[in-house]
Amino acid sequence: MSGKSPDNKDPNTTGHIWDGIEEFDNPLPRWWLWVLYLTIIWGIGYTIWMPAWPLLNGTTTAGIGGYSSRADVAADIKHFVDANAAVDSKLTAVELEEIAGDPDLSNYALNGGAAVFRTWCAQCHGKGAGGFTGYPNLIDNDWLWGGTLEDIHTTVSHGIREPADDDTRLNDMPKFGEDLEAEEIDQVVQYLLSISGQEADAGLAETGAEVYADNCESCHDEGGIGNRDLGAPNLTDAIWLFGGDAASIRTTIVHGRAGVMPAWAGRLSESQIRQVSFWVHQQGGGE
Ligand code: HEC
Ligand code: HEC
Repeated sequence: MSGKSPDNKDPNTTGHIWDGIEEFDNPLPRWWLWVLYLTIIWGIGYTIWMPAWPLLNGTTTAGIGGYSSRADVAADIKHFVDANAAVDSKLTAVELEEIAGDPDLSNYALNGGAAVFRTWCAQCHGKGAGGFTGYPNLIDNDWLWGGTLEDIHTTVSHGIREPADDDTRLNDMPKFGEDLEAEEIDQVVQYLLSISGQEADAGLAETGAEVYADNCESCHDEGGIGNRDLGAPNLTDAIWLFGGDAASIRTTIVHGRAGVMPAWAGRLSESQIRQVSFWVHQQGGGE
């Protein structure tokens, strides 16, 4: 509209002028308006059809279309649960030793077990089950309570020192801080260093052997080889749950140790417990 002067009373202007720029008052294109009205109608319809409007009680309107993303997920999960129902019930019905010989069962258990482990066990035992101080490595050949599939299955089902499970594995390393003289503790520390192949004071270690026989042998067995029935670790290997340097050993003896492993019976299904036990057993350390 160049050339028109601001004074020109063009019916298509609002009469507003800013710095010489006029505001036109043309009607919006019809097609554009219709699109706008349609989107408004569609938008309102959508919020009636789908769950949308927040309600005061913290939920939302359900929508007359009956759609629910939760129901979708539940249906997806049910689909897989149904698909696995047969192999699941077979897995819980067979003897534990039979799993390895059945390719269907063992494949299923390995895949499922790895997923269970990632979800429920990796926080404590590490992603690759390599463990941390106080949380045992599950892929070596060193076992506190035993490494057969049966042993692992029992440990996973009932836990270790799990107060809520009557069948839990139970045995505490006593606190010797008060029962033994400081001197005796020094001696038995040196004895443990010597039997685990570390540098030790031979004189102290020799008397330490007597302290050991009197106080420790009942659980850790002769020469410190450990006793799985009691969850008492082997003290002669170089594998330490709580640390094998003199200071860590001293802390263990003075204050005792009582690591807790949760029980999974009731929390996981028997099939899941078997899957993860089988997975752990297959990781290289199983007996
Ligand atoms: C909250 C931490 C925690 C979680 C989660 C956990 N564990 Fe443990 N687990 C432990 C501790 C601690 C011990 C050692 C207890 C002790 O000192 O005797 C242990 C011991 C074990 C043992 C015995 C090892 C041996 O040498 O005898 C097995 C097997 C085991 N866990 C498997 C599992 C599996 C499988 C899961 C997952 C379903 C799992 N754990 C989840 C903490 C945990
Ligand atoms: C009543 C049984 C019992 C007696 C007695 C006992 N222990 Fe233990 N000891 C255990 C148990 C069970 C554990 C494992 C604790 C855990 O896993 O939480 C353990 C753990 C240890 C550890 C930690 C090993 C590691 O891998 O980090 C050391 C070291 C140890 N004991 C030394 C001794 C010494 C030394 C004595 C004697 C002065 C002794 N124990 C007496 C049951 C016993």
